[in-house]
Amino acid sequence: MAEILKTVEAMDRALALLEAGQVVAIPTETVYGLAGDATNGEAVARIFEAKGRPRFNPLIAHVSGKVMASEIAVLDPLSEKLAQAFWPGPLTIVLPLLPDAPIHPLVTAGLSTIALRMPQGFAAQLIARLGRPLAAPSANSSGKISATSAAAVEADLGARIPLIVDGGRTEVGVESTIVKVEGETLRLLRPGGIAAEVIEAVSGQSLVRTGGAMVEAPGMLASHYAPGTALRLEATAVMPGEALLAFGSIRALGSDQALSILNLSPSGNMREAAANLFAHMQALDRTGAATIAVEPIPSTGLGEAINDRLRRAAAPRS
Ligand code: TXA
Ligand code: MG
Repeated sequence: MAEILKTVEAMDRALALLEAGQVVAIPTETVYGLAGDATNGEAVARIFEAKGRPRFNPLIAHVSGKVMASEIAVLDPLSEKLAQAFWPGPLTIVLPLLPDAPIHPLVTAGLSTIALRMPQGFAAQLIARLGRPLAAPSANSSGKISATSAAAVEADLGARIPLIVDGGRTEVGVESTIVKVEGETLRLLRPGGIAAEVIEAVSGQSLVRTGGAMVEAPGMLASHYAPGTALRLEATAVMPGEALLAFGSIRALGSDQALSILNLSPSGNMREAAANLFAHMQALDRTGAATIAVEPIPSTGLGEAINDRLRRAAAPRS
């Protein structure tokens, strides 16, 4: 059972948990979010773990205002205008991630873009007090609908998280609208709490719908992060010229020949492995190895998402 505290009494407890790298369910004006410190990989891994997500989709980073946003991403003039008009509120804007942004790569699933939103109320105050962005997908287990009350969060995730902040029923009740500026084009990635027409009125241009295939899961897109270097999965031996992405305490044969070795988790801890996954893939990608050999990783717990992501990264490029 999670502890449930009303917003008026929850601030200090929520802050302490977030500082400790734990996750907290919080109300936003759209739906409840399952929040963790976006700069802390283990906290972000805990979000995926609690949701039972079978794969790592990129998460929205929630900010307390435009200053925090500008430390994370590059705001073009149109995105700036939209943020001005709709923040705080149910608008998420996908933006180029600054190279030195204080965002753990598990938040963006290794993408070079990031989805940013400034929520209303308790969530915004919490982020301002923490002084760091919060990664927060909707607070529901994978495949279930988003929770719009603390009771719904409790029924679904109560056994897996320490705290639910009860802010009553959420006002909007559907997730935020997600848009992305691409050159001259303003693209609607997900319809949501702000009607497309309202965004069109403010931006002075029409929103391009992404066909029938809304980008519900950009993890499926070709543009999703994949290393330039080929991956060889389930490797039990290292071939000449390969780098090794290791896991656990037992090394693949010939590992001493590897150009470079990075271990996702020497102790075999799935949460640690998830937190290291994208950063390690990126680092091995930069070594110039012909191939990255990847040791077998069990598919238990977060291992399912880790293996899903590795399979995608290893798939032939179209
Ligand atoms: O209202 C909301 O947006 C709620 C509250 C908690 O803020 N959050 C929410 O998060 O709905 P989630 O994780 O359930 O949905 C986020 C969506 C996903 O479909 C994800 O694929 C997309 O945002 N997304 C995240 N980063 C992206 C990126 N860089 N490019 C394109 N889509 C992205
Ligand atoms: Mg969701």
